[in-house]
Amino acid sequence: MTHPDQSIDQPTLLEIFANGELSGHSRHYEKYAGDMAGVYLDSADWERQVAHGGADRLVYSVNEQKYQEGPGALTIGTSTVHPGIYGDEYAVTRGHLHAVSDRAELYYCLSGNGVMLLDTVDGQTNAIELAPGKAVNVPGQWVHRSVNVGTEPFVTLFCYAADAGQDYGLIAAAGGMKTMIVRDGDGWTTIPNPRHIGYARSSAA
Ligand SMILES: [Fe+2]
Repeated sequence: MTHPDQSIDQPTLLEIFANGELSGHSRHYEKYAGDMAGVYLDSADWERQVAHGGADRLVYSVNEQKYQEGPGALTIGTSTVHPGIYGDEYAVTRGHLHAVSDRAELYYCLSGNGVMLLDTVDGQTNAIELAPGKAVNVPGQWVHRSVNVGTEPFVTLFCYAADAGQDYGLIAAAGGMKTMIVRDGDGWTTIPNPRHIGYARSSAA
């Protein structure tokens, strides 16, 4: 009789829905309007909206599933960014560089319309539009943030190495990302973020 290798993780069946539901998720977290202090250039408009809509208004949420912390495992999940606009700036996630900065990530759009905003610490910037069926393969060394440029929730499926971690402080210390995604007629465009002072080099690997 053979004995199964207890060190081998078991496969997991997941059901992933266009509204961001993920059956079998092992973690769920939410960010509220009040959590986004300092993120938007027009802080007066952000304050006004928090005062009127409440600091507890949901602005984005994440469902994720992972089976272990080790370097070989994948974290899989969905991110749902609700529509919003602050001044002329579209609703964003906080954004991050992976703490293990060479770790890549896939984002596949399940519903809504959005942009993946991307910077490198040495000054490159990029903005890639996503709609259902479109995906972006984000290489390591790119700071990334989701932006909802539509009127419906912007939902993406993501997948990255479970040991990647997130450095959220890098963007705040830089005065925000290099570029902002702002309203332009019925669409969007990029403009330089006047508060951005450049990124400190990450000390992470
Ligand atoms: Fe990431």
